[in-house]
Amino acid sequence: MTTEPTRQDLATTETAGPGPVTAGVTAGVTAGPDLATALGAESGVGSGPGPAVRIRGVRRTFAAELAPVRALRGLDLDVAAGEFIAVTGPSGCGKSTLLNVIAGLDRVDEGGVEVAGERVDGRDEDWLARFRRHHIGFVFQFFNLLDGVSALDNLVMPGVLGGMRRRAAESRARDLLDLLGLGDRVSQVPAVLSGGQRQRLAIARALVNRPTLLLADEPTGALDSEGGLEVLELFRRLHDDGQTIVMVTHSAEVASGASRIVRMRDGKIDTP
Ligand SMILES: Nc1ncnc2c1ncn2[C@@H]1O[C@H](COP(=O)(O)OP(=O)(O)OP(=O)(O)O)[C@@H](O)[C@H]1O
Ligand SMILES: [Mg+2]
Repeated sequence: MTTEPTRQDLATTETAGPGPVTAGVTAGVTAGPDLATALGAESGVGSGPGPAVRIRGVRRTFAAELAPVRALRGLDLDVAAGEFIAVTGPSGCGKSTLLNVIAGLDRVDEGGVEVAGERVDGRDEDWLARFRRHHIGFVFQFFNLLDGVSALDNLVMPGVLGGMRRRAAESRARDLLDLLGLGDRVSQVPAVLSGGQRQRLAIARALVNRPTLLLADEPTGALDSEGGLEVLELFRRLHDDGQTIVMVTHSAEVASGASRIVRMRDGKIDTP
């Protein structure tokens, strides 16, 4: 308790401005409204002053049979609004733990985490659930879609949970499916879609509530190289339209598509 940093501690002088934002869609998979329109005003850039993510001195240790595992060991990181960063590093260096901590899915033992100007660490579950609905879109390696449910309903459900009326959620879901090249798959269930299509559906789901931050943990890890590059191209388009993205990847090729690569090692950012 006594080691909790104050907001003052987090607010250091090194403020990065928002990343470059270009208008329009660079690679057209589909027709329909452009990404900037679909993403809306809360897509990262212009969603508030300061960086999208500010992390200071974060530690997270897990109990284990032999010895405690120090997954995060005093990690500092800033992500500017509108940035697209790739987090790389050896297996076990703490990449997934870092994403979970940013999303408020895991707690920290020490240190401070701020997302969109809000302090995330030390909050209760209700606050965190609300925070995630408004600010976080999460894309997983193995999609985590609802299997017995249509592509459309995979998107409508989180929209309604996020506070949209059903009709508004349906309209947004259709726009996103069009945009992501799944307009002809609306009523299909995930099982009949290809891996790449399933991941695009999972990305559409992550965008339904116009998150401040899109977090992706090895989003291309379960795809063949073509599907992986398709997902990367989609992330690049979202970034071009102002979406802030933090993506964990093991692939150097995928990482090279981001605007900045952050390397992790032993629970910290590996500064060169
Ligand atoms: N819930 C948990 N309980 C116990 N140990 C955990 C837990 N989550 C993570 N760890 C441990 O913390 C360390 C960091 O794990 P993490 O999953 O963040 O690594 P990673 O960089 O994502 O690895 P990978 O590239 O293999 O996905 C590992 O040693 C892992 O075993
Ligand atoms: Mg991981």
